[in-house]
Amino acid sequence: MDSLEIKGGPALRGDIAISGAKNAALPLLAAGLMATNRLVLNNVPRLADTLSMEGLLGHLGVDVVRDGEQVTMSGGATDFDAPYDLVSKMRASVLVLGPLLARYGEARVSLPGGCAIGTRPVDLHIRAMQALGAVVELADGYIQARARNGLQGGRIMFPMVSVGGTENALMAAVLARGETEIVNAAREPEITDLANCLNAMGAKIEGHGTDTIRVQGVDELHAANHEVVADRIEAGTFAIAAAMTDGDLTLHGAQERHLDALLAVLRDTGATIDCAAGTIRVKGNGRPQAADITTDPFPGFPTDLQAQFMAMMCIADGSSQISETIFENRFMHVPELLRMGADIRVNGGTAMVRGRKSLTPAPVMATDLRASVSLVLAALATPGISTVSRIYHLERGYSDLETKLGNCGAQLRRVKG
Ligand code: UD1
Repeated sequence: MDSLEIKGGPALRGDIAISGAKNAALPLLAAGLMATNRLVLNNVPRLADTLSMEGLLGHLGVDVVRDGEQVTMSGGATDFDAPYDLVSKMRASVLVLGPLLARYGEARVSLPGGCAIGTRPVDLHIRAMQALGAVVELADGYIQARARNGLQGGRIMFPMVSVGGTENALMAAVLARGETEIVNAAREPEITDLANCLNAMGAKIEGHGTDTIRVQGVDELHAANHEVVADRIEAGTFAIAAAMTDGDLTLHGAQERHLDALLAVLRDTGATIDCAAGTIRVKGNGRPQAADITTDPFPGFPTDLQAQFMAMMCIADGSSQISETIFENRFMHVPELLRMGADIRVNGGTAMVRGRKSLTPAPVMATDLRASVSLVLAALATPGISTVSRIYHLERGYSDLETKLGNCGAQLRRVKG
């Protein structure tokens, strides 16, 4: 397993082009199952997770062609069974459930794996399908769902906000008969991106980006071309890297309105932020000041940036309280940050971080995608050589991370293992 050797200390300075969002690309790829003709997606990042989804679609019979960052899907499914060996690689594979059921009236999808953050059930996805008339059974580790006469529009009320649940519900509702109302829907930019693409394919969706989405079912979806939205989590990660290393990074393609919560907190820590159309420039201003955060569904502070922000607070001036409300067990980066000399105390879903002037270099191990990148940030800001092992987690979500950081002055090298 490869590791990254990082010689920390230098401020990161320069320009970074933000890639297409992994979390938008995954449901958009799943929507390829629903196109009667073809769906062309541009700006699809080449990542372990997107390649896994493309592999799963190929297994289901979709003709998937990748050319650089463009993915063309056509032909639809010939098989409705998403097996364990493909689904266990990535939790988002469950996103094929709604499209298969809506278009073909049947789906057999293995219960998913993915990042080991909390128990992460799929009950909300299943309830959404049932609300549209599907008969769902759980047997032998599989979700087996049927809608012999097609799905019927209905009211889907989410008891808690679920991004993936909303995406599955939306894709299913688009081809269900009649009207569907999705209440307490997720408002993440990735949902809006999915709805925009489905509408370009002929769907009738309104209210995306708010907590109530209304869908008028249509008989079929036609061909479309769609550009995947920029990755706000990648942009946010580099924004934190700039502030944390007292650097100066300009992020191209990043959208300010997708990062309001983070940018407000970064300003509180003393960073200077300048936003123009399609770019965000983040400049550090010496040692960051401590600030508190609580993760929340969009437009709140994203859970996918919590670990990175915690790494920054480890070297901040003052104490910071970090509350994680989306996932249980999403502090797996804490023991590794402690190995670098951080002062963090965890009590349930809250971590108290007392900033130190500097961390100390150490060998650390990546555990999940965002935890891994938080260790990379900690290493970049710590003078001396740290090694982050098990970096395959990073490859699930960060496109060309080493090159992008290297071009901005980071000293890192991959050690094959
Ligand atoms: C998506 C993102 C992930 C991000 C998360 C929250 C993708 C591919 N992944 O994950 O990066 O961290 O949103 O912003 O887009 N839950 C249930 N039952 C369900 C579904 C979810 O209890 O059926 C719970 C989860 O355990 C979690 C919470 O709901 O506590 C939110 O999860 P959800 O929004 O569904 O996350 P994902 O879609 O899996």
